[in-house]
Amino acid sequence: MINPIKWIRLRRLVILILLVSPFIQTYAQDVPLHWTKKSAGVWAAEAGQPEKVNLTSVSQVTPKTEALTAMGDLSFPLSENEIKATIFDGKTYLQLPLEVGEQIFGLGLNFKTVEQRGKILRLHMDHYGGTDNGRSHAPVPFYVSSKGYGVFINSARYIDIWVGTAVSATSKVPMDARDRNTDKSWSAQPYSDNISVLIPAQGVEILVFGGPTPLDAVSRFNLFNGGGTLPPKWGLGFWHRTPTLYSDSLVLNEVKEFKQHQFPLSVIGLEPGWQSKSYPCTYEWDKGRFPNPAKFMAQLKDQGVQTNLWMNPYISPESELIKKLKPFTASHTVWNGFIPDYGLPQTNKIIGDHLKQHELDLGVSGFKMDENDGFDNWLWSDVTRFPSGIPAEQMRQLYGVMMQKMTTQLYREQNRRTYGLVRASNAGGSSYPYVIYNDYYSHRDFITALINSSFIGVLWTPEVRSSPTAEEWLRRMQTVCFSPLAMLNAWSDGTKPWSFPEVEKQVADVAKLRMQLIPYIYTCFAEYSFYGRPPMRAMNLLPGFYSAPEIVAGKLSSTDNPYAKATRKEIKDQFMVGDNLLIAPLFAGETERKVVLPKGRWYDFYTGQLAGEGEVIKVAPGLDKIPVYVRDGGIIPMYETPQLSLKSQEKRDLIIRFYGKKEAVYKLYDDDGETFDYEKGAYSWREIRVASAKDGKLKGSISKAEKTKPDNFASVKFQFMSE
Ligand code: GAL
Repeated sequence: MINPIKWIRLRRLVILILLVSPFIQTYAQDVPLHWTKKSAGVWAAEAGQPEKVNLTSVSQVTPKTEALTAMGDLSFPLSENEIKATIFDGKTYLQLPLEVGEQIFGLGLNFKTVEQRGKILRLHMDHYGGTDNGRSHAPVPFYVSSKGYGVFINSARYIDIWVGTAVSATSKVPMDARDRNTDKSWSAQPYSDNISVLIPAQGVEILVFGGPTPLDAVSRFNLFNGGGTLPPKWGLGFWHRTPTLYSDSLVLNEVKEFKQHQFPLSVIGLEPGWQSKSYPCTYEWDKGRFPNPAKFMAQLKDQGVQTNLWMNPYISPESELIKKLKPFTASHTVWNGFIPDYGLPQTNKIIGDHLKQHELDLGVSGFKMDENDGFDNWLWSDVTRFPSGIPAEQMRQLYGVMMQKMTTQLYREQNRRTYGLVRASNAGGSSYPYVIYNDYYSHRDFITALINSSFIGVLWTPEVRSSPTAEEWLRRMQTVCFSPLAMLNAWSDGTKPWSFPEVEKQVADVAKLRMQLIPYIYTCFAEYSFYGRPPMRAMNLLPGFYSAPEIVAGKLSSTDNPYAKATRKEIKDQFMVGDNLLIAPLFAGETERKVVLPKGRWYDFYTGQLAGEGEVIKVAPGLDKIPVYVRDGGIIPMYETPQLSLKSQEKRDLIIRFYGKKEAVYKLYDDDGETFDYEKGAYSWREIRVASAKDGKLKGSISKAEKTKPDNFASVKFQFMSE
């Protein structure tokens, strides 16, 4: 028997605990951050108890430590005591410092603005809906600062982030409250000295990347995520996707038409109609439209054309696959299709084996993985449960990366490189050979997305579908040819490159230029893979380039905006391809535009003439050509003649263009163009040097390809464009 006095004391104790426990739970706990070095210029710290499932645990890529070490070491780029973490209310609160004038880039695939300071975002996987609110195809929780460092929040949750908008009562900058009644300088956007982050989990890993430049910080982030992808050479040629219900003979006929029009073609994409059923999908060939897929693909291959197949994740109850797959699918369905749980090895094996047997082994070169992003009505809801136990929220953030990982692995097992399309990616996706696209068809915003993709380790294509006018058609074609994937997606409109006869020649010219530029573009991708440097990139990533956005005062209105919010004008319509080419697209309706030429001299790509020097120029180039500029000392290796299709093993003549007057050195990358043998050393970086000879004239030379290494050039010539 328990003694009654002890019993009363025990009861009191229990009551006391019950009374104080809500206060214990809600008491905010500041947690210490211990920074440890992960690699040269990369540090990590854990706040609280990070979740097991996060962005890097799923992508599972190995950091390129040697390349990181080669970039050199440096000291921690922020002041450690200004990074604060608190666990409260079941969530992690982070605060990171911001300096006056500091610019912040990245934080997902934004379409409207390049700089993110001043934004409030919820990083949430979705099909882009027309507003830069954090919902995007790649809600990568990484930002890079104009001060030359980067921060990565390694969480697969929906993350809220206040980018210089949350004003702390203990800010370093003294409070400056003004009277709106009388003070004209009152501002609706008071100064904030921090980036605040809210992660709905009781812990998170935070990574900091050193620079010293913003490009270095991005490169370190990419190298940490396994380095950028190196596509097969054919992936950099011209792509065409045929209408949904095309059959094998219609596709072959289309290929014939490309030949008749002397238009380049490297990859043919088949849309949903290659499958017996789609939305939900069978992943099985339609026997009526494609009675003999192996023969069909061999015919395409004979003509130097690769095949890419569309798919979405949702599996039809009528697919053979479902017999085995059913136990590894989610509690809910999408379009009445089962949702495979890629968090389980069984799912990857069952789908992987199927794709291998029915697609890869017949010759399919890659996939377009659609509908793994959103919109909310077209995806599983957050109440869906997955047998792996991964919550639906994390699944949504990770699904695209999981599909990329599975398919990349299949090709790797066959020692073949693939290149394809995906609508959802995230941190950890850089080394996977996929390019993001979407249905939001704004040409101008597509270019801003291309710029923004370079901050967050993903690739983006401003694909062409259709156009109301020949002018827009040509303008779109001109930009897509300078992007990671040059593609006409005619799935719905049945357009062809020559759909506007009045600009057929100009469209063909730019597609052929793309084919000629492959040695240069392939080298840009090798730099992405070996050194983490994005192939197409923002002007803001140019070392030493700083362009303060022009602040435009907002207008006050009693109905729409009582707070006169200021907006920023920034460079969001020109970009770099590698270190040497500056692309300044024009959009329909424009006859002239401004081009910001960074420091140094810049030359016109087509004529070699001086265009300007560290200044803003105004150009009116006409419709035929997209303005392209080359830096002084710019070396551009090109195929001498444009080929219509790409066979990796073919030896071709190389012409090395040189622009300007400045002596220069450039490294040209090459390998077999289609296997992973380069990872075992089967590649070369050939040195191209342009220097003044005794007579004062510039002369070019190229180092010999090493005997045991691939050499794909039959002859080499130099062309001095600015003489
Ligand atoms: C869309 C996709 C298009 C096309 C279409 C086919 O979701 O973005 O590119 O593939 O599906 O139904």
